[in-house]
Amino acid sequence: MTEPILARTRADIAEVMSRPSGGKTAAVLTMGALHDGHAALIRAARQRVGASGRVVVTIFVNPLQFGPDEDLSRYPSSFDSDVETCRREDVDVVFAPSVNEVYPDGEVGVTVDPGELGEILEGAARPGHFTGVLTVVLKLLNLTCADVTCFGEKDFQQLVLVRRMVRDLDVEVEVLGLPIARAGDGVALSSRNAYLSDEERLVAKAIPTALALAAEAASTSVGAEAIRGAALDYLTAQSGLSVEYVEITDPELRPLAGPGPARLVVAVRVGHTRLLDNAHIDIASAGSWPTGGDQ
Ligand code: PAF
Repeated sequence: MTEPILARTRADIAEVMSRPSGGKTAAVLTMGALHDGHAALIRAARQRVGASGRVVVTIFVNPLQFGPDEDLSRYPSSFDSDVETCRREDVDVVFAPSVNEVYPDGEVGVTVDPGELGEILEGAARPGHFTGVLTVVLKLLNLTCADVTCFGEKDFQQLVLVRRMVRDLDVEVEVLGLPIARAGDGVALSSRNAYLSDEERLVAKAIPTALALAAEAASTSVGAEAIRGAALDYLTAQSGLSVEYVEITDPELRPLAGPGPARLVVAVRVGHTRLLDNAHIDIASAGSWPTGGDQ
């Protein structure tokens, strides 16, 4: 176990990053409340840069990506246990800046425009969310001098958009996408699961079940609309849960053009908590295709 260096300011992180390192720097960007999914990202980061490289974990709840009626003020926080996780996972540097440190001028003038992909699915439900995400991701990658960054597939649209930003803006960072980490009951790990009551947690199990039903439908060679329908019908039949969207797209979240690899993306509300999940689906049959456009 290593004691990670704690950097709180821009000056701190600049000083730490100016020290010689034997390899590349991998940054795992988080909003804290670390769980096993974050630990898996940290391990992947270490594996990528090796023992001589540097792993930095950022802990910053980014106000720019929260809408006015969202959960910014009550977002789960567990700083001491987060640092303990970083210690256990052999993290070299924890960068946990204040809002003033990240946004020293207060209001942000220049932001990253996610384009059309930022307006569908999560972007439609949370206007401005991905502008806030991409802006802080770019800032944190710059501040930590990252060569590599690791993102989980749970927030699939975020991962696709980070990849797009890196490609479209020529950011010199390698983006690694890691599979969704799940709890024993199949529910995707998320810091927001902490909001769920015991009863709501039982309801949330319907989400991985719906994804499994869709995969099962796909294995019988039905078309995309039937696969989507298998998940949607199951979810809409559940009580205590409301469906925000169930969509099937290509792996880049574009409308499907035909059989092949696809992504089934789901957002539901359980009580006051929005939960996201998704799965890779192989579509064998031409079947019938979603109309697209209303994602
Ligand atoms: O996925 C998250 O926790 C956040 O969106 C991120 C990438 C740390 C940016 O604030």
